[in-house]
Amino acid sequence: MTGPGLNGDYGKNFRSKPDRRATSKIEQMSLEMEIRPIRDGDEEGIVALWAACDLVRPWNDPTADIALARRAPASEIFVGMDGDDVVASAMCGFDGHRGWLYYVATHPDLRGTGAGRKILSAAEAWLAEQDCPKVELIIRGSNKPVAAFYEAVGYTHEDRILMAKWLVEPPVAQTETPVEVTPADPTVPLLDVTVTFLEMTSRPTAPPRPIPVTGSPLSLVRLHRPTVGYYRYIQHTVGDPWLWYERRKMNDEQIHAIITDEDVEIYVLSEGGVPAGFVELDFRDMPDEADIAYFGLMPDFIGKGLGPYLLDWAVHCAWDRDPAPKRLTVNTCTLDHPSALGAYQKAGFTPYARELNKVPDPRALGVIPG
Ligand SMILES: CC(C)(COP(=O)(O)OP(=O)(O)OC[C@H]1O[C@@H](n2cnc3c(N)ncnc32)[C@H](O)[C@@H]1OP(=O)(O)O)[C@@H](O)C(=O)NCCC(=O)NCCS
Repeated sequence: MTGPGLNGDYGKNFRSKPDRRATSKIEQMSLEMEIRPIRDGDEEGIVALWAACDLVRPWNDPTADIALARRAPASEIFVGMDGDDVVASAMCGFDGHRGWLYYVATHPDLRGTGAGRKILSAAEAWLAEQDCPKVELIIRGSNKPVAAFYEAVGYTHEDRILMAKWLVEPPVAQTETPVEVTPADPTVPLLDVTVTFLEMTSRPTAPPRPIPVTGSPLSLVRLHRPTVGYYRYIQHTVGDPWLWYERRKMNDEQIHAIITDEDVEIYVLSEGGVPAGFVELDFRDMPDEADIAYFGLMPDFIGKGLGPYLLDWAVHCAWDRDPAPKRLTVNTCTLDHPSALGAYQKAGFTPYARELNKVPDPRALGVIPG
């Protein structure tokens, strides 16, 4: 898409020339970054950049956002290119009164090298070319530190109240109120944790995944009234790398009550008799809802194709009830394995809500061994 007044050579005007003073490879990459308007084929790289920069939210389909901006009469998306790689972006639009910026992002490896300033300059120059007198942008409450970047490049805070209304039903509820938890000890660092809640409202239509081929035979066995010690072994071995702290905080009595509840089903996947992973299905809210409370692999078994199989098996196991649940839920957070959210979506779950939390670092609290 090209907006009004945009000439085909626009990108060239913003191509940065290498600076002899630049020393590091990263700095050189930023200085050589070519900035140009979006072209067909850039979409995938842009979406990957936005995901890497935590700009994607379940209620904003990034691919649809790109298509919509490209169709709009007075908007543009600038990309910073390092060869074929999209390493920076800025979406801008002029509504006839103010110019707006969205999806301003630079690749994490390029931060602090001037790439953000350059991509913004391109967007601002384009807006100026539309006779736009003033540019504005919105910073999410969870992203307040980024205000320092905008101040460094000439923006000032204005005391306004931002209000909004959806004109179409959003695909998922927009819940982005940060939950602030202040630890009793102010020296304990707080972690920013985003939790995504997902659901599946009908049984998957695809047939169950085949059992993976492994060196030793696989077994999948339900634990009936497991001991707290064995449960802690699998739960903590799987969960500690991802800072699963909730069960760590429980005493043995609390754990015992959950794991011996007939409506909580814990299945252990083993390879050659060695525990490789587990899934905990919580049916306590049936017949309305079943929940995959925990699902994960032991560190030694990650990357062998067991995860998708175990997840798919758990999904079918949950739906194989009579009566079946009205919905199956699961949640994942940004402390989990980076591919967890994608794996749940691939298994048929859809995000329906998101919550931003500040959590005292469980390692600093001594809840999880550091
Ligand atoms: C915000 C973002 C685009 C900045 O990109 P960048 O490539 O690091 O920015 P630059 O290197 O061009 O920095 C320009 C100036 O801002 C300053 N700056 C950048 N990030 C800063 C920060 N977090 N705090 C304080 N100053 C900052 C730089 O020091 C530099 O100042 P200088 O020119 O006076 O030395 C990048 O951090 C990003 O992609 N963040 C994630 C996505 C995001 O939050 N986007 C904003 C949505 S509203």
